Amino acid sequence: MAEKTDKMDSIINLCKRRGFVFPSSDIYGGFNGFFDYGPLGVELKNNIKQAWWQDFVHRRDDIVGLDSSIIHHPTTWKASGHVDNFTDPLVDCKESKMRYRADQLFFAPVRVAGETIGYVSLLEAEGMQAKAEELAADLKRKLAKQGAMEPVVLRDYTEAKPEEHALIPSPATGKPGSLTPPRSFNMMFQTYVGAMQDASATAYLRPETAQGIFINFKNVVDTGRVKLPFGIAQVGKAFRNEINPRNFIFRSREFEQMEIEYFVAPSADWAAAHRDWIECCLAWFESIGIPRDKLSLYPHPAEKLAHYSKGTTDIMFEFPFGVQELQGVAARGDFDLTQHSQVSGQKLDWFDEAAKARFIPHVIEPSVGVDRVFLALLTTAYHEDVVEGEARTVLRLPPRVAPYKAAVFPLVKNKPELVARAEALYRRLRRRFNVFYDASGAIGRRYRRQDEIGTPYGVTVDFDTIEKDAGVTVRDRDNLSQVRMSEDELVRFLDEKVNGA
Ligand code: GAP
Repeated sequence: MAEKTDKMDSIINLCKRRGFVFPSSDIYGGFNGFFDYGPLGVELKNNIKQAWWQDFVHRRDDIVGLDSSIIHHPTTWKASGHVDNFTDPLVDCKESKMRYRADQLFFAPVRVAGETIGYVSLLEAEGMQAKAEELAADLKRKLAKQGAMEPVVLRDYTEAKPEEHALIPSPATGKPGSLTPPRSFNMMFQTYVGAMQDASATAYLRPETAQGIFINFKNVVDTGRVKLPFGIAQVGKAFRNEINPRNFIFRSREFEQMEIEYFVAPSADWAAAHRDWIECCLAWFESIGIPRDKLSLYPHPAEKLAHYSKGTTDIMFEFPFGVQELQGVAARGDFDLTQHSQVSGQKLDWFDEAAKARFIPHVIEPSVGVDRVFLALLTTAYHEDVVEGEARTVLRLPPRVAPYKAAVFPLVKNKPELVARAEALYRRLRRRFNVFYDASGAIGRRYRRQDEIGTPYGVTVDFDTIEKDAGVTVRDRDNLSQVRMSEDELVRFLDEKVNGA
C-alpha cells in the first residue's frame, strides 16, 4: 500500500515538476477538484483526444463528429432526468463541516459477546476491512470489554437505519452525534444566462456531453450522411460538483469526456451490440498503450443501474490507488430520444426505407474520461530503473501519445557547423512532429531529461554526421539501442512509429 501511495506521489510530483499537471489556481493555494494542464500535459491530452478521434471518427464509416455548446437549453436537463436524478447521497458532519458521499462512508457496529458496544466508521479505501477491525479492537480495549468480538461487517452509510445515524462516529472527529441522515445532492453546476438572476434564467453546465448529441440527433440525420446503425461522437468538457473530488485528476469537478452515442434499430440485438462495443473499447485501450492485464470488466447489478440504463458495464483499470472505473459502456435503450421527443414535441425518429416504418432507435454509449485515460497512461508508463549505474525516471509512453516524438541533440555545442546541422534537422522534423531541441549539458543528462517526460527517441548529430556519413544516431528510450540512419530514414522511421505503418 505504501509503495502504491509512493507511486502516486511520485507521479503527482513529476507532473508538477515537468509541467504536465498543476493544481488549478496554484498561486491562490489551489482550488479543490480543478486542475490545469501544463505545456507537456496539454500535448499528451491532445494526443489522446486525437488518437480517439482518428480511430473512432476518421477511420470508421459509421461515426460522425459533433461539437455542441456546453450550456444547453435548461429543459434539456429536465427531459434527460438530470434535474431530478443526477444526485449523490450527501452526509454532513455538523461539527467539522466536512461533507461525505454516503456511499463512500462505511460503518459497522462493534459487537462483543452479543452486545453492541459502539460503532466504527471510515472512508472507502483499499484495506478498509483491516483498518475497521483495528478500530473495533481499539474500542474494545478502551472500554475494557471482556468476551469475543463478533466479525466486523462494513456497510455503507446509505444502508444505516435512522436510529443508527446518531451512533456512527464522524470520520472527521471520531465522535458520534454530528452526522446527518443522507440527503440527495444534485451535482450539476448552476449558472444564470442573461442579465436576470432569477429562476427563469437558471441554466446548467453540462455534466456529460451525451445530451448535446441527443438534442442534435435530428440535425445530424437531416444533414444526410448517416445510415442506421451509426454513431455520433463528441469530445468536450463536462462539469460535476463532486462531493469528494479525489485521487488527483481521477475524480475532478471539471473534466473532459469522449463519448459516442451509437444508434441501432430497436429490433437489433442490443446485448450483442453492447458486447461488441466493450471489446472494441478494450482493443482501443490496448492500442494506445494501456495493457489488457490491467483492465477488467464490472457489469452493474440490475438494481444499481442509472435511471436511463438497460445495462452498463464499466471497464475498470488497476490504478495505484485501486481498481476503478476508466470507462462506462451503457445500453440506454430509447430513453433519451423518447424523452427529448416528448418534451420538445419534435419527432426524433428514423425512417426505415426498406420496411417503410418509423421508429426511435436504441443506443449504446461508450463514454470515457480523457483525464482518466491520461492517468492510466501515466501510471502504466511510469518506471524507475538504473541505466549505466545511474538511477533514472522514465515514462514509457508509446510514440503516438508521447508529448515529444523525438529530441534532437548536437553532440557538442561549440562546433558551429555541427550545431547548424542539428538545428536544420530540428526545423525539418518539427514541420511534421512535435520535437524538442536541446544543446545544453552532457549527452547522458540530456537523455535522462527526455526519458523522464516520455520522449521515445533521442537523435544525436555528431562529428560523423558532418564529416562522414550524413547520418544520425537514434537512441531508443526503452531498450537503449542506438541505430545509425540517414535523415530521410529518420523521417520515415518516426512517421511509422507515430502514425503506424
Ligand atoms: N454519458 C454517460 C456518463 O457520463 P459516467 O459514467 O457518469 O457516464 C463517463 O461518466 C466517464 O466519464 C467515466 O467512465 C469517467 O471516465 C469519466 N468521469 C466521470 N466523472 C468524472 C469525474 N468527476 N472526473 C473525471 N472523470 C470523470
